[in-house]
Amino acid sequence: MRRWSGLILLVALAACDRSGPSTEPTAAGGPPDLPGLLRTHGVELTPRQWGRIERMAEVPELPADPTNRVADDLAAARFGHQLFFDPRLSAGGDVSCASCHDPAHDFTDGLRVAEGAGLNLRNTPTVLNAGHHRWLTWDGRSDSLWAQALEPLENEVEMAGDRCSVAALVHADPAYHRAYESIFGPLPDLADPGEAPARPVREGTPDSLHERWEALPPDTRRAVDEVFVNVGKSMGAYQRRLGSADAPFDRFVASVASGRYEPVPGFGARELRGLALFTGEAGCWECHAGPMITTGEFHNIGVPPVAGGMPTDSGRHAGTSIVKRDPFNAAGEWSDHPEGGRARMVRTLVETPDNWGRFRTPSLREVSRTAPYMHEGRFETLEDVVRFYSTLEGAVQLDHHQESVLEPLHLDDEEVAQLVAFLESLDGQPADPAFASAPGAVPGD
Ligand code: HEC
Ligand code: HEC
Repeated sequence: MRRWSGLILLVALAACDRSGPSTEPTAAGGPPDLPGLLRTHGVELTPRQWGRIERMAEVPELPADPTNRVADDLAAARFGHQLFFDPRLSAGGDVSCASCHDPAHDFTDGLRVAEGAGLNLRNTPTVLNAGHHRWLTWDGRSDSLWAQALEPLENEVEMAGDRCSVAALVHADPAYHRAYESIFGPLPDLADPGEAPARPVREGTPDSLHERWEALPPDTRRAVDEVFVNVGKSMGAYQRRLGSADAPFDRFVASVASGRYEPVPGFGARELRGLALFTGEAGCWECHAGPMITTGEFHNIGVPPVAGGMPTDSGRHAGTSIVKRDPFNAAGEWSDHPEGGRARMVRTLVETPDNWGRFRTPSLREVSRTAPYMHEGRFETLEDVVRFYSTLEGAVQLDHHQESVLEPLHLDDEEVAQLVAFLESLDGQPADPAFASAPGAVPGD
C-alpha cells in the first residue's frame, strides 16, 4: 500500500500542542518521546489526521433524552437494572435482556445471530454506549433507548412476552410495585390484565393475543401502555449508565495532548501504525469517525449474506418506516417531549428506496470483545473483517444505483495486523462498575 505522503507528525504536534512544552526527544534513558517513537517506526500523520484522532478520543457527555423524563433518574436506573436481568418478563420465563446482552460478553451473546424464544436474523450488538446513538439497532428502527426496550419484550423471537403480563408482574411483585410507585406515582388500576396475556400487533401477523388486546376496554389498554412505557423508560435510564471509557487509545491521545508524552500500555508501534492507516489511507474514518468511532450513518458496504445469493434484509429501508409508525417514537403521545429535536428528526425522516440494504455503521468501541461481526454475524474475527475491507471478496452489489463507497485496499499481512491491533486498543473500562453486572437484591427489599 502507498504510504501517506503528507506532512510529518512533528507538524501535527506543533498544531495540537499549543501549550508549548517540548516534544523533542528526551535525554537518553528517559521514556521515548512521541516524535521519536514515530520516527523510529516510520509513521507519518498529517495535522488533518491528528484532528480526526483527537475527535475520536473526546468522549462527550451523554446527549440528553428529554423524551424520557426519568432518563437520568438514579432510582429509575436501579429499577431498570432489575428489569434488564429479569427473565420473568419473557413468555417462557427463561429469557431476559441480559440473556442476549450478557455482561460476560460485553453485553452481547457471542453468537452469530441472537437466540431467544426463537432464532433472530441479526447479530446482537452491545448495549454499552448505546445512549450515544441517534438511532437504535442495525436498521435504526427505534429513536430512543426506552422505545427500543419495548420491542424485544413482545418480539416473538426475542422474549415473546406481552405488555399485559409485564404490567401484571410490576403489580404483583412487591419490590417492583414499590419501586415503580416511588418513581412514577400510583400504579393504575389494571383490572387483572395478567389473567389474559394480550398485546397489539406490531410487525407480525394478528394472533389470539392481538384479539384479546382489541377486546380490552380502552381505559385498560391505556393503563397497561402507561406501565409498559414506564418499564421501558426505566430500562432506558439503566442503559444510559452503561458507558465505557479510558481505552488504551484514549489514554494515548490524552498522553500526547498533555504535551508530555509517556508510552501507554496497550498502545505501541503496531497500534500507532494501525491508527495512521485507519485515519488516513485506509479511509475507515470516513464512516467510523468521532468519539463512538461511527458517524451513525447507514451504508451498504456489500457484506455477503450468510445464506449466499442476494441479500433479503432491507435494513434501513424497513427501519425508517417502522420508526416513523412506532406509537412509542419521540413524536408520539408517550414521549415526554413530542415537540423537541428528536421528534422533529423522526417526523422529517425520508423514506426512500435508496435505503434498501443499508445498516448503521457500528461503533467500534469495545469491538474486540463483541465478535462475531456485521449485522448477520458474518465474520468471526476482526482479522476476517479487515481482510474483507482489503479484498472486498464476495461483496454484493445490489444494482448499479448502489453507492460505491468502498474500493479494495490491498493491505499486506502486516497492515492487516496493524489495523486489528488498533481496533483492539479501543476496548475500555466500564464507566460505572455498579451497573456493569447483574444487580443485587432490589434496593430497600
Ligand atoms: C434474543 C436476544 C435478545 C434479547 C432477549 C434482547 N435483545 Fe436487544 N438486541 C438483540 C438483537 C439481535 C439486536 C439487534 C436487532 C436488530 O438490529 O434488528 C438488539 C438490539 C438492542 C439494542 C440496540 C443497540 C444498538 O447499538 O443500537 C438495545 C439498546 C437493546 N437491544 C436492548 C435490549 C433490551 C432493553 C432488552 C430487554 C427488554 C433486549 N435488548 C433483549 C438481541 C436481544
Ligand atoms: C462506507 C462506510 C464505511 C467505511 C469506509 C468503513 N466501514 Fe466499517 N462498517 C460500516 C458499516 C455500514 C458496517 C456494518 C455493515 C453490515 O453489518 O452490513 C461496518 C462494520 C465494521 C466492523 C464490524 C463491527 C461490528 O460490531 O460488527 C468493523 C470492525 C469495521 N467496520 C471496521 C472498519 C475498518 C477497519 C475500516 C477501514 C478499513 C472500515 N470499517 C471502513 C461502514 C464503513
